[in-house]
Amino acid sequence: MRGIRLVCLAAALLAYVAAAELRAQSASISVTDGVYTAAQAQRGKATYVVFCAGCHADDLLGTNSGDSGAPPLRREGFMSGSNAGALFTKIRRTMPQDAPGSVPDHDIVDVMAYLFEANGFPAGREELPVVPADLEKIQIVGMILR
Ligand code: HEC
Repeated sequence: MRGIRLVCLAAALLAYVAAAELRAQSASISVTDGVYTAAQAQRGKATYVVFCAGCHADDLLGTNSGDSGAPPLRREGFMSGSNAGALFTKIRRTMPQDAPGSVPDHDIVDVMAYLFEANGFPAGREELPVVPADLEKIQIVGMILR
């Protein structure tokens, strides 16, 4: 009797774990799912022009001046394989390269919305949140720019 109960318990536990895993999988989204709003990208553009364009250029294609050159932020496969949380952390810790930490978090997230728009990812109904744990769930996938 006891053995059967234990087996049942183990089976229930397994089913529970499997269901949780499924939920976790379906919770993961990508930049193709409309993770920012058009208005947010518009705000981000204004911030980009002030804090980022000096090195990454107005057209986001970067500058090619030797060691001081900044990479393009609009290109095929931009940051693909990463996630929005990692991009947020990277910008927060290291950008603008000449004054890291000078851009408030909500402005960084707006700039990210602008970068996603510039890389061809669609706008949606909800803004990209200023919540690192939520940003981490948003995968950045490659897109071929037209
Ligand atoms: C003073 C010049 C300068 C400014 C201003 C600047 N960057 Fe950069 N950025 C660089 C350089 C140089 C690199 C390459 C080295 C690195 O990745 O840290 C870089 C790399 C990056 C990367 C990584 C790109 C990749 O494909 O790996 C991102 C994202 C980025 N910058 C975003 C920004 C944003 C957003 C701003 C404005 C808030 C900004 N940068 C302002 C010089 C600059």
